Amino acid sequence: MIDMETLLLNSSEENIQKVAYALKKGEIIGIPTETVYGLAGNASDENAVRKIFSAKGRPADNPLIVHLADFSQACEYTSFIPDLAYRLAEKFCPGALTMVLPKNDRIPMVTSGGLDTVGIRIPSHPVMHRILEVSGVPIAAPSANISGYPSPTSAQHVMRDMKGKIFAVVDGGQSQYGVESTVISFEDNNSVRILRPGCITRNMLLEVCREVIIDRAILNEVQEGQKVSSPGMKYKHYSPKADIIMVEGSESDFIEFAEKHNSEHTYFLIHSADGKTFPFRYLEYGRNSSEQAHFLFSRLRELDDIGAEKVYVHAPVKDDVGLAVYNRLIRSAGFEVITL
Ligand code: TXA
Ligand code: MG
Repeated sequence: MIDMETLLLNSSEENIQKVAYALKKGEIIGIPTETVYGLAGNASDENAVRKIFSAKGRPADNPLIVHLADFSQACEYTSFIPDLAYRLAEKFCPGALTMVLPKNDRIPMVTSGGLDTVGIRIPSHPVMHRILEVSGVPIAAPSANISGYPSPTSAQHVMRDMKGKIFAVVDGGQSQYGVESTVISFEDNNSVRILRPGCITRNMLLEVCREVIIDRAILNEVQEGQKVSSPGMKYKHYSPKADIIMVEGSESDFIEFAEKHNSEHTYFLIHSADGKTFPFRYLEYGRNSSEQAHFLFSRLRELDDIGAEKVYVHAPVKDDVGLAVYNRLIRSAGFEVITL
């Protein structure tokens, strides 16, 4: 790919207009959302979508989520919307929920990775919302990281991965949630399946759905050749250069483990030091699940910046938003878990 100058833009109305125009012309742009930063292109423009796959180095069979300004537009890009989807949209849109629905032919096959479905999301971030409104196009946007690397939660992260490959990055501040949206598919008109956990939790979905199935692949490694409900489940994800190992156990057992395994270039990712200091190299990623979701990806990137080669991570609790944090970490660890 030819190296181009990548503009780092603030989120002024003037820049939003400029970016919306560029999107309509087929450029791809780093944009802020409330979950993570996305790499945006016009979802109905095959060339723009190909640029996204190429800039990320993303496998062609991994579909892109299509973002719209309002759920009322979903019928323009899908062939069927179950009643349950409208009820979920009432409660969770705009927000961190992606609903997989049968697509129509306004969504090209390149965008859907060859599937006959499309993930629809209505982001709540005001800058992203305004870009959708002004451009008037459906926006395909995967997370704006190089494929396989942790997702970006700041404009600087996107610049790091995409500088020279894309037209611009719009800075909309730190991503509020820090993990990507909850992806669901529909089992029937009362139940859904979580394909990727996020900040819209199973308990929240149960306020609207009779049954919420957690797909097996969320916590278990997909075996070679196994059929998956979402192509993203097959691929290596969220991995920094450092070797990540997840460690399950109480806080005091983890500290004892760290003291024993301390060596040069080895780091420990702990929940919180709570004002104490320890005789090993460590970073904190949060006292509760929401904090951990918010900080996880930036900590994984920082660990590479400071030259960590091996990182033992104190496992998060798996409840509610914690399930999303656990799902990302177990993948970044390549399912390598030590239980104390
Ligand atoms: O929060 C988010 O969802 C962010 C922001 C930018 O909106 N986007 C994001 O996109 O995380 P991406 O491409 O990094 O992850 C999308 C995931 C992939 O694992 C993909 O396989 C799955 O959603 N997915 C997308 N469309 C699908 C479909 N039609 N059927 C099943 N899975 C789908
Ligand atoms: Mg991604």
